[in-house]
Amino acid sequence: MAENKSYSRYVQEQLHLFQTLIDRVPSPIFYKDIWGCYLGCNKAFEEYLGITREELVGQNEIDIVKDPQKNPLHSAISLDISGHPSSGKYETSIRHPDGTERIVIIEEAPMTDLNGIAIGFVGAINDITEIRTSEKERMRVDKLESLGVLAGGIAHDFNNILTMILGNISLAKIYGGVNTDKLQHLLESAEQAVERAKDLTRQLLTFSKGGSPVKKIVSIQGLLKNVTEFTLAGKNVRSAFDVPPDLLTVEIDENQIGQVIGNIILNAQQAMPEGGTVSIKAENILSSNVNGALIKGNYVKISIRDQGIGIPEEYLDMIFDPYFTTKEKGSGLGLSICYSIIKKHQGYISAESMLGIGTTFVVYLPAVQIQHEVKGQAETTVVMNGKGKILVMDDEEPIRSIVGDILQYLGYTVDFANNGDDAVNLYVSQSYDAVILDLTIPGGMGGKETIKRLREIDPAIKAIVSSGYSNDPIMSDYVAYGFKGVIVKPYTIYEISNVLKGVM
Ligand SMILES: Nc1ncnc2c1ncn2[C@@H]1O[C@H](COP(=O)(O)OP(=O)(O)O)[C@@H](O)[C@H]1O
Ligand SMILES: [Mg+2]
Repeated sequence: MAENKSYSRYVQEQLHLFQTLIDRVPSPIFYKDIWGCYLGCNKAFEEYLGITREELVGQNEIDIVKDPQKNPLHSAISLDISGHPSSGKYETSIRHPDGTERIVIIEEAPMTDLNGIAIGFVGAINDITEIRTSEKERMRVDKLESLGVLAGGIAHDFNNILTMILGNISLAKIYGGVNTDKLQHLLESAEQAVERAKDLTRQLLTFSKGGSPVKKIVSIQGLLKNVTEFTLAGKNVRSAFDVPPDLLTVEIDENQIGQVIGNIILNAQQAMPEGGTVSIKAENILSSNVNGALIKGNYVKISIRDQGIGIPEEYLDMIFDPYFTTKEKGSGLGLSICYSIIKKHQGYISAESMLGIGTTFVVYLPAVQIQHEVKGQAETTVVMNGKGKILVMDDEEPIRSIVGDILQYLGYTVDFANNGDDAVNLYVSQSYDAVILDLTIPGGMGGKETIKRLREIDPAIKAIVSSGYSNDPIMSDYVAYGFKGVIVKPYTIYEISNVLKGVM
């Protein structure tokens, strides 16, 4: 009797030791009989699947993997079990109690009794959802980077060409000639075409490397409304806004975020060929409620929901890839540009969709607490009473020539330099009221070095930096580099006239 008691005590202790051991293992562990019915598990398993040991015992694995048809591997295991027990490693998905689908690797090995007879299996679950997500994210970033190298190169050359075309058109418009009405009309359509080309290069440039956006602190309300109205103009799609008055401000490149909103709204409209409503909602998301993909902090969350055709689940992962499109005339660039821009703003973009019901795009942008600056409306009248002498530095002759024509038209006198050394030499020999420096001069001293040298000569110099790379850090932070103004190529006669007026 006493012996029996100590024996049962021994068994109890062994069981306790066994359970303590597996409870200490941080991965979810389970064991089951050869028919696939659970016999027990460890603490990590209970926590991971939100089920207690008592509830688990006796259940079949099919009950745990909530979506058996999505897990052919799992049914394959059950079939194997009766005949030939063997160890295995399977990737499958599990419906987590919080409702999300988790990707897991399950490793199983047969357990035998003292006689070596198989009595069941022991297995461990390894959740690889996060690893998978970050792998996908990295591949996406890699793809966009390689596209960026190409796009950046092309867009730079293209921008210079556009500057010449646009400059010549705006002058031709002003000088006019015979049959002026007709001519004006033709030149205006040419100008519109250049604007479209300019838009495309700007989109391509957003992919290019080294791009910090040209950021300003703004309230995004106005931008949301304007871009939406502009994009939906003349279409059979209505818009509905839900924006609280106390929406936090954001620090953004308005051009770029405008593109993001425009691309999403355009997709929404294209997804509703029969018409419908696109709902735009903005809200403050405070630090405490920020999801895992973002650094802690306050965000403005923008949700854009349509009632369109929806996106099939198997496509949801691909819509942000460059050139992925399901449209006959689509470019497949819209959403990859959105992704790239939002990434550069330290934000987050994702999509949810239900076929036949609609799609919601969600964008998070970091919020700033400061009140936004009220920005004046850009003037569209040319000031022709410009006075003073301006030095223009650009490596391309046609650019110098057209900028020269424009400045002379505006009333200024102009000198030219092909590179930084020329500019410095000229500046030493005579005085200028302002200088316009191109940021990149291939094989020569560009705007960044030139301004340093010029400021040594004249600390009060009025310099404007000009570049096709609107997202070069100097362009957003030009004051820190010693410039008083900035202008992005290609520019119109109005834009250059305004910038000059501003610095002089
Ligand atoms: N609101 C939406 N509703 C349905 N499908 C969408 C929506 N937005 C994007 N998509 C899908 O994502 C694809 C990629 O979009 P995008 O990158 O803008 O390129 P494009 O519009 O040129 O096809 C689209 O072709 C479409 O299949
Ligand atoms: Mg699109």
